[in-house]
Amino acid sequence: MQLRAAPCGALAGTVRVPGDKSISHRSLMFSAMAVGESRIEGLLEGEDVLATAHALEKLGVEVARTGEGAWTVHGVGVGGLAEPADVLDMGNAGTGARLMMGLLAGHSFTSVMTGDRSLRSRPMGRVMTPLAKMGVGFVGRSGNRLPAAIVGTRELLPITYQSPVASAQVKSAILLAGLHAQGITTVTEPLPSRDHTERMLAHMGATVTSETAPDGSLTVSITGRPELRPSSFLVPSDPSSAAFPVAAAAVAEGSRVVVEGVCVNPLRTGLFTTLMEMGAGIMEQNRRTVGGETVADLVVRGGRLEGVEVPAGRAPSMIDEYPVLSVVAALAHGTSRMRGLSELRVKESDRLATMAEGLAACGAAVEIEGDDLIVHGTGGRPVRGGVTIDAKLDHRIAMSFLVMGGIAREPVTVLGAEAILTSFPGFVERMNALGTSIAEVAA
Ligand code: S3P
Repeated sequence: MQLRAAPCGALAGTVRVPGDKSISHRSLMFSAMAVGESRIEGLLEGEDVLATAHALEKLGVEVARTGEGAWTVHGVGVGGLAEPADVLDMGNAGTGARLMMGLLAGHSFTSVMTGDRSLRSRPMGRVMTPLAKMGVGFVGRSGNRLPAAIVGTRELLPITYQSPVASAQVKSAILLAGLHAQGITTVTEPLPSRDHTERMLAHMGATVTSETAPDGSLTVSITGRPELRPSSFLVPSDPSSAAFPVAAAAVAEGSRVVVEGVCVNPLRTGLFTTLMEMGAGIMEQNRRTVGGETVADLVVRGGRLEGVEVPAGRAPSMIDEYPVLSVVAALAHGTSRMRGLSELRVKESDRLATMAEGLAACGAAVEIEGDDLIVHGTGGRPVRGGVTIDAKLDHRIAMSFLVMGGIAREPVTVLGAEAILTSFPGFVERMNALGTSIAEVAA
């Protein structure tokens, strides 16, 4: 599918974005490990999360949709999954694949996992290495890529692991495997990544402890083989999806947009902090707790944005938001430097390269220096646009360049825009209701 975004003016209105992708994957998987029925409301019904639901079904878990965003899961208990009769296809989802490996680790059967072209190109070694230390066997393609066979064991060893990357996917895979091991499993990451796994498992009755060291690193420990309580999950709106209306409104002078019920967990809000440092008017209203997470309505006013320095240490809290930030930085007054983005190279696409190439094609002045992305803003003047960008199976690249189309001089066309369905079904309708002009064009 090709979508074209034409230049539009100020945005106005109120919008609600779909459920959080991270929490949605986790609510399905963690429910599967409790004994009995869990209920989920507000589940993101994007392709990534549906792939997780289908994989769980293949593993013998009853998963049912009872209404819009409403699902029930009949959990089989920690260690209770059944050998799948077929390959587990995780689609485009890195979170689905890596967390599922952690879940499969403690079962004494072999499963085979694959995914789409993007997922099959992504490194799985970061998860395979610690899980292998716990006793799991892997047979994968070169470079530890999918498809791979996972040879689990009921006799997992608890480990203490120092992760080289701040990654919630790595941390969560180890913690999920640790749930199946006898004893305490500990993982340290160089900076804290999103903590949904820790919060949700603790809520279900697991013993989880977290400690931040003076050097900023985070150590999380989990006690194996607990009895997890079935739960009711209420999934808040995804800040990584809210990023698109928020950024589009912040950069368009005269805009006033309200994004309702957004998860504002501090480990997810780096983009909002950064936009405020650029001068954007973003106000939180009605802070409240939903499903154990703080949510708020974000009131965004568009206006002049200044260039910004984003420190490397902020990356984990906005790792999925750099593509759209770099789009708005292209129109800022002054230069923006986003530091320490090596992790962007192993996302659904190489986001550092894809953004730099796409922004340059649109007429923006960009450079990559080591792992930093530098964008020289135009001082509020629209960039040229008028190009076609290949989304490269990456939903956030697709949505970012559709935001670009709204603020460029000429429309921007996105090839492979169906990738958006992995995380944000209803993106076009919701954005257009605020005043953007995005439409499908014939191939
Ligand atoms: C996610 C963690 C992040 C993020 C991804 C979702 C998660 O990946 O990019 O979209 O739900 O744990 P890393 O943890 O590998 O950085």
